[in-house]
Amino acid sequence: MKKAIVRYTEEHYHKLVSADNVLVSGGAKQALMVLLLAILDPKEEVIFPAPYWVSYPEMVKLAGGVPVVVTAEDGTFCPTVREITEAVGSYTKAIILNSPNNPSGTMYSRDFIAEMVEFCEKKSIYLIMDDIYNRLVFDGKSAPLCYDWLKTPLEQSKLVVINGVSKTYAMTGFRIGWAIANRELTEAMGNIQSQQTSGPSAPSQWAAVGALNGVQASVESLRLTLENNRNIMLDRLLAIPGVKVAKPEGTFYCFPDFGAYFKDSQKLANLLLQKVRVVAVPGKEFGFEGHLRLSYCGTIKDITEGLERMQWALDPNSANELYLGDRKLVRDWL
Ligand SMILES: Cc1ncc(COP(=O)(O)O)c(C=O)c1O
Repeated sequence: MKKAIVRYTEEHYHKLVSADNVLVSGGAKQALMVLLLAILDPKEEVIFPAPYWVSYPEMVKLAGGVPVVVTAEDGTFCPTVREITEAVGSYTKAIILNSPNNPSGTMYSRDFIAEMVEFCEKKSIYLIMDDIYNRLVFDGKSAPLCYDWLKTPLEQSKLVVINGVSKTYAMTGFRIGWAIANRELTEAMGNIQSQQTSGPSAPSQWAAVGALNGVQASVESLRLTLENNRNIMLDRLLAIPGVKVAKPEGTFYCFPDFGAYFKDSQKLANLLLQKVRVVAVPGKEFGFEGHLRLSYCGTIKDITEGLERMQWALDPNSANELYLGDRKLVRDWL
């Protein structure tokens, strides 16, 4: 498994690492968790931009640290380098960047990544690049690769790359992810993991080796399907009056603003679930009220039907009644 990841890193990051730089874990989630356990002393801070993946604050707290969220003043999904670096203080141990981003689908720019790599190197702060979606990128673009700007040799560097097979190969249930870090840190993470779970299951490792070393056509086919699904979802969302949405550049999520209808995203998610059987994750959980995270990794039928139901539930111009199978719904909540 480690050999396959070394080869993958060379092919997709143009970076030569050794097997001693690789920790294979039960998903990227475990890699992140053991990383935080390895580096954090009590009360040390970890900075990440909002919107953020729901697990970051909880993982940081579980590891005894303090999450520090930075939100862009201009309301966009990516703070400026200045906004992030202003949050850095004497307790800052690490910065986590997830690009393309769950939940917004935003991909941080090359300049932004370059400056963050440079800044963390200069300040000797851990920079954790959660690259789990970095091959699911649209519109002919590709994700910036952090190693392109790393000047320090990996062994002296505090740059850690997280990746896995859950998204790129749609192998979430196999639970294989990894971290690439300097040897000393990799060993520390391995020591912690060995007391937690020993290591990831062998059958899952073989499956992941097959994915990384096998024919890669499925990745492109998945990427194209998601790009098409994204376009369909965007068109449908923009047809709902008052809904604002930034075009996702990657992942399989979008993060529209429903603030014109509901300020409380939890209430809106509950309403959609209970009334029209649409599942959405409230923006509040990602540190961004008024938004909902919608996934477009389902079928086109599910996406269009889901959005038709949402539009019916929200749009004041829609008909008063809707049939879901033989269930008649009457719009009596707005
Ligand atoms: C941003 C981000 N990082 C990490 C993970 C964890 O992935 P894995 O299934 O490899 O644990 C996810 C999964 O949702 C994610 O969205």
